[in-house]
Amino acid sequence: MTGFRLEGRTALVTGASQGIGEAVARTLASRGARLVLAARSVDKLDALAEALTAGGAEATVVPLDLADAEATAARLKALPEGFEAIDILVNNAGITADNLLVRMSLQDWDRVLATNLTGTFAVTKALARGMMRRKFGRIISISSVSGLMGNPGQANYSAAKAGLIGFSKSLARELAGRNITVNVVAPGFIETAMTENLPESARSELAASIPLKRLGSVEDIAAAVGYLASDEAGYVTGHVLNVSGGLYI
Ligand SMILES: NC(=O)c1ccc[n+]([C@@H]2O[C@H](COP(=O)([O-])OP(=O)(O)OC[C@H]3O[C@@H](n4cnc5c(N)ncnc54)[C@H](OP(=O)(O)O)[C@@H]3O)[C@@H](O)[C@H]2O)c1
Repeated sequence: MTGFRLEGRTALVTGASQGIGEAVARTLASRGARLVLAARSVDKLDALAEALTAGGAEATVVPLDLADAEATAARLKALPEGFEAIDILVNNAGITADNLLVRMSLQDWDRVLATNLTGTFAVTKALARGMMRRKFGRIISISSVSGLMGNPGQANYSAAKAGLIGFSKSLARELAGRNITVNVVAPGFIETAMTENLPESARSELAASIPLKRLGSVEDIAAAVGYLASDEAGYVTGHVLNVSGGLYI
């Protein structure tokens, strides 16, 4: 493939230990980017770094708990040697703690907002300065169709995911003058650990409700991120790319 190459770029992916984040890391590495893999599960990150390195890419691991914004900011001040200049940031880490509003605890509200939204703020703020200095950057955050259309039982998650969209649109305006683009990918239902616990009947019902009649794959999301990270997407900023098989139109 000639287009969408990422040689010479360094990408940091949060939540790279599994699911969509892992697929994003694999895709960016396959296009030539150097990878910084961040999450809490260091063993999984080490295994991925090893696999990427065996495939000829460069990768390093940074243990990060986004629920602790101050520790996250401090940790990102000292990135491993050779990986200090982050060109591409993929804010992918996220959690759910679903419940109907009347049963939702303040703790579950706070936990989801802290990891999904405040954690993204902390990582982005820590890395934006360097991008501004170098006058290049790609910031891509993984939201959800829940943030666009709402979802019963997910008031906390939908609020955080909608928050990411407002956050990204503001940053797109703030950072455009420094040649930094800021975009959002909003997946629909994707086959991952988050969705694997659904009973088979619920799964087929779900697939039937999607215009393209299937759940998405992690590669569907990684392809969208790969595009937004590329030089070819240099004139796209402040955009929400919905990758949902038509679930949200
Ligand atoms: N799957 C879907 O259908 C779907 C749909 C729409 C949007 N999304 C979004 O896509 C993103 C990835 O989802 P997924 O399905 O791949 O989920 P997943 O398999 O549960 O993976 C979540 C990732 O986030 C990391 N993470 C969670 N809490 C963290 C914390 N406190 N600090 C650092 N990392 C943390 C996890 O790593 P550790 O546990 O190792 O820390 C893991 O790598 C999420 O933002 C999710 O909301 C998913």
